[in-house]
Amino acid sequence: MSGKLASDYDAWKKLQHIYETERGKLVLKDLFAEESDRFTKFSTEYASKDGPDVTLLLDYSKNLITKPILDTLLSLVREADVESARDKMFAGEHINTSEDRAVLHVALRNFNDFKIQEDGTDEVGAVLDHMKTFSEAVRSGEWKGYTGKTINTIVNVGIGGSDLGPVMVTEALKPYSKRDLKAHFVSNIDGTHIAEILRECDPERTLFIIASKTFTTQETITNAETAKSWFLETAKEQKHVAKHFVALSTNTKAVTAFGIDKENMFQFWDWVGGRYSLWSAIGLSIALVIGFENFEALLKGAHGMDKHFKETPLEKNLPVLLAGDMESNGKSITKGGQRVDYQTGPIIWGASGTNGQHSFYQLVHQGTKLIPADFIAPATTHNPIAHSKHHRILLSNFFAQPEALAFGKTEEQVREELGKNASEALVKSKVFEGNRPSNSIMFPLLTPATLGALIAMYEHKIFVQGIVWGINSFDQMGVELGKVLAKNILSQLEKPEDVKGHDSSTTGLIHYYQKWRKE
Ligand code: F6P
Repeated sequence: MSGKLASDYDAWKKLQHIYETERGKLVLKDLFAEESDRFTKFSTEYASKDGPDVTLLLDYSKNLITKPILDTLLSLVREADVESARDKMFAGEHINTSEDRAVLHVALRNFNDFKIQEDGTDEVGAVLDHMKTFSEAVRSGEWKGYTGKTINTIVNVGIGGSDLGPVMVTEALKPYSKRDLKAHFVSNIDGTHIAEILRECDPERTLFIIASKTFTTQETITNAETAKSWFLETAKEQKHVAKHFVALSTNTKAVTAFGIDKENMFQFWDWVGGRYSLWSAIGLSIALVIGFENFEALLKGAHGMDKHFKETPLEKNLPVLLAGDMESNGKSITKGGQRVDYQTGPIIWGASGTNGQHSFYQLVHQGTKLIPADFIAPATTHNPIAHSKHHRILLSNFFAQPEALAFGKTEEQVREELGKNASEALVKSKVFEGNRPSNSIMFPLLTPATLGALIAMYEHKIFVQGIVWGINSFDQMGVELGKVLAKNILSQLEKPEDVKGHDSSTTGLIHYYQKWRKE
């Protein structure tokens, strides 16, 4: 990891040249017509070698690539020395240089397979055992609330990586959930979020999981205090907190100061980045919702992908072929402190099912910006609907959208459809240029192990990009400024005369709030 600018690599320069000289000539319609074996050439299938069965198909043939372009992209990966950087990550070297930390989410799902030397990695198994015992006790009803009733609701209180991963996994794996255990996730500092959730909870039967790596995050601690006050309004005595509050954190001191028993704390370590923490104790809500066995399958599925990333030649290596995106790329300085002269991450968004087609796909199909997309679908569903074709309809859209994006609709086709009397403007508005790239990813069924593999695949894709771009994918300095400014403003909100040191817009907005506030 040199901290070198990606644009200095020979392969980058070659790609830049190809882009400048060939971009108009790369037309998917022509490429597919010229190469009848394009799908075979530019698709690859992944199968787990051990652990639970996982197979994934990645079809990347609808990208604006040719064999020479792909070869140059792989040369870029070689030139950036992604392979040795990857080995350093797996070995526990402190590749998060700005924070002097190892990056070892892979150790959380390693099951003693790879050799990793770093403090705490030998404790992973003990924390998993703790999670197993605890989640099984809650799910079986053995764990009782302070009045002797079983737990029927869990509320995870966390934000960012301490929320989003578990939310996504529990939502995606709902078919595996325990239906009589409700799960809520509170993240937002907007009091409406927690207030509306607490309305649905019974203090005698609710378990709060305070998920915070640092245990200092303003949103989480504020929500946790609110949850505790709400609970104590009914339970009255502090000693009852032990049956209803657990913590997932690296900060024992802050957890005990909050009033949570050390026994009820699930530990993790500074080498687990927030965005990569669902595999750690932060996944307790997942284990509670889908059961520990399924949580373990999720970890094993991810471990299978780790092995694939570590051991597969670049040409067949899924994360390398995808090389993609995440919030903590997006830096303008390399690890060596040089300013980059290229983009380090696109804006990413998405939607499940066909909902996106009825909203933002318009921009993807006919807008002026090239928006590459990934389409992900299972061949079979957990929820086949009797006498209906839901899944076939869903999949027909899954096949149709990448096809439409790639091949579009020509003016001749539109004219033929509309007939001679159609206005020119209408004809033009219905033309789809096509040539919009996409990847399609399919698998037989969304099992916990498959989801684990998918998430790990995207995690490693971030890593590959970060190495090529020369940036640190594992710190998040950019998030800090807003937090600091908000703390300063919070102390000024009481009186208009306290509002100091801001521009006129910010001052005006705060004064407006002070005029109308009621709290
Ligand atoms: O704001 C970003 C971040 O630092 C994430 O990386 C992290 O997941 C989130 O805040 C929450 O932090 P914590 O788990 O320490 O409460």
